[in-house]
Amino acid sequence: MAQITPDPIMRIAIGFMAAKHLFVANEIGLFTGLAQGPATLHELAAICGIPRRTAGISADAMVSLGLLERDGDRYRNSDTAAVFLAGQPGPDLRPMLRFWNRISYPGWLALEDAVRAGAGQAKFGEFSAEEQQIFSAGVEAFSAATAASLAANYDFSTHRRLLDIGGGTGSFLLAVLRRHPALRGTLFELRGACEVARRRLAGEPEGVRIDVVEGDLVSDPLPPGHDVLLLANTVHVLSAAHNLDLLRKLRVQAALGTHLLLVDLWMDPGHTQPPAAPLMSGEFLIISGEGQAYGEDDAEAWLRETGWRKAERRPLGGPHSVIVAEAI
Ligand SMILES: C[S@@+](CC[C@H](N)C(=O)[O-])C[C@H]1O[C@@H](n2cnc3c(N)ncnc32)[C@H](O)[C@@H]1O
Repeated sequence: MAQITPDPIMRIAIGFMAAKHLFVANEIGLFTGLAQGPATLHELAAICGIPRRTAGISADAMVSLGLLERDGDRYRNSDTAAVFLAGQPGPDLRPMLRFWNRISYPGWLALEDAVRAGAGQAKFGEFSAEEQQIFSAGVEAFSAATAASLAANYDFSTHRRLLDIGGGTGSFLLAVLRRHPALRGTLFELRGACEVARRRLAGEPEGVRIDVVEGDLVSDPLPPGHDVLLLANTVHVLSAAHNLDLLRKLRVQAALGTHLLLVDLWMDPGHTQPPAAPLMSGEFLIISGEGQAYGEDDAEAWLRETGWRKAERRPLGGPHSVIVAEAI
């Protein structure tokens, strides 16, 4: 029989150290500091404005995780770090790391309390202006690839008005409206998120086709007159009861045939795949106080109960997929 070792436990348990080292490397500018080429520790410390000794601790941790490479006394970005973390044109995951470092990481300290109590403290509506900016920009970075994939893989050409509920910075609306010049969009969000979104949309040509409406999806009426409705990563910040209420509220004002798009980390019947989803359940719980990752089976049951017919579920790349439903 193969020897049983504690290695899997150790690997998982030091995972928080790997994550925190990565967040710190991002904050001190290790990857952007190497964007122009390799540097010695002495040079790197000067670029980041930190002591040489602790620059070494951070840089060597990144080498051990494969995000930096070391050649003699010179460090350079790995291909992955160069593409996603060095601040170059193209995809940029730095805002997501900042969000997880500044907001999620401290929030996870309360995971035990939330798991014991069955719910956590909601952070939405409680953010300072700076935290709201970090949160909204971080979520946009997290879901940028999903937004691009939805815009490319779902045919919006038959629709006129798209309502994005809990739409963050409006990044999904931008991705879709860029491809469909005749489409108009409405962003429905909490007040703090709307303030960030207005600044974000002001810099985009498609912004003039987007109405920003402040409100609470639990207690306020939703903007009427849309023929396609989007909930992207919003179901997972709500309890099952609030999701049922929301789908019912949407159905009451939707014309027959209205399409509803539910973008999320929908899990398999065993609720363990995709593997990121059960882990991120903890994140959704501590950020919203009531959310979690859900299974496709959960969504099917809610849709049946509230007057929607599920048409299909399409993969969107990574752990995300979209459930397409129609008002019947
Ligand atoms: C995980 S983010 C998703 C943002 C965006 N849809 C995306 O996928 O990038 C969830 C969003 O729901 C919004 N939200 C949470 N509770 C809400 C409520 N009661 N009413 C309106 N929006 C809410 C939050 O402000 C947040 O921007």
